[in-house]
Amino acid sequence: MIGLGIETSCDETSVAVIDQDNILSNVIYTQEIHTRYGGVVPELASREHLRKIVPTYREALQLAGIGIEKVNCVSVTVGPGLLGSLLVGISFAQGLCYANDIPLIGVNHLEGHFFSNYFSGKELVPSLFLIVSGGHTHLYSVPEWGEYHLLGRTRDDAAGEAYDKVAKALDLPYPGGPVVDDLAKNGNPGFIKFPRAMLQQDNYDFSFSGIKTAVVYYLNEHSREEIQDNLAHILSSFQEAVVDSLLGKLAQAVSETAIHRVVLAGGVSANSRLRHKLSEYGQENQVEIIFPPPILCTDNAAMTAAAGLFRFRKNKEGDISVNANPRLKLM
Ligand code: KG4
Ligand code: ZN
Repeated sequence: MIGLGIETSCDETSVAVIDQDNILSNVIYTQEIHTRYGGVVPELASREHLRKIVPTYREALQLAGIGIEKVNCVSVTVGPGLLGSLLVGISFAQGLCYANDIPLIGVNHLEGHFFSNYFSGKELVPSLFLIVSGGHTHLYSVPEWGEYHLLGRTRDDAAGEAYDKVAKALDLPYPGGPVVDDLAKNGNPGFIKFPRAMLQQDNYDFSFSGIKTAVVYYLNEHSREEIQDNLAHILSSFQEAVVDSLLGKLAQAVSETAIHRVVLAGGVSANSRLRHKLSEYGQENQVEIIFPPPILCTDNAAMTAAAGLFRFRKNKEGDISVNANPRLKLM
């Protein structure tokens, strides 16, 4: 069964073609225009999607080596995300499905991220699912396919947002995550003890704005030269606080729920320190840790196609009248 996925929820325009469990093509166009503003500008994002959706679609079909008539279902992200951006992908998908008489499936972007691990062929349920991205830091228990129970979430900034804001405070480019990850490799994670938030509390919620603020205070209290000389140490210490906060809550959830499988997804799940420390924790505690391949951590349409195909196989019907919901929840 062939599925075509369309993802335009934020600043990636992506179209993918999958054949059951295999990715035939996954074209991702990352919008560079936002780098000069230090964050995503919604109006510019939807204009860029409009400009790129057709060429991205054509390239995805060409790389997959198939025509649209071979596609059994089209899946499109309907939320959460930026309204204008979602609408570009949805309108395009509706036109495509109407013209070619193909069922259309609306996909929840967060469920999409879960399915970025689908292509590994590993069993993914029952599991704890941690999505760490620029917009979300949410922990779910997933007792079976398609069923998600929210255990905890960030009370303020998402983990990726904290990376982006710390990078911005240091005049580093957007998105901050990959840059900080890289620079922190040469630093001492114990150089400064930034706070590990929410670890004491009797819940599974996260908080990252305190860590970010502690970094900003540190920057204000030190000279430009000192900051430059210790940049790698400062970033490494910041990263350690973020990773420890994530790991602390995950470990608590594993021991309290006795679910010994953790599935990660989202942009921050590409982070090298998070991968290293979580893998170490997994080995020491007999917990299976599953990460998506780096290319599927950030937004992409292969995961959207997989989530949609899963829904289509289950329900056997599409819905051409799907609508955008910028605040769509996963539950
Ligand atoms: O999943 P994603 O592409 O988009 C959202 O749905 O938000 O995640 C983007 C976020 C950004 O905040 C970016 O800084 C962060 O993921 N990110 C990273 C890394 N790569 C991307 N954060 C830490 N380490 C990385 N290697
Ligand atoms: Zn995302």
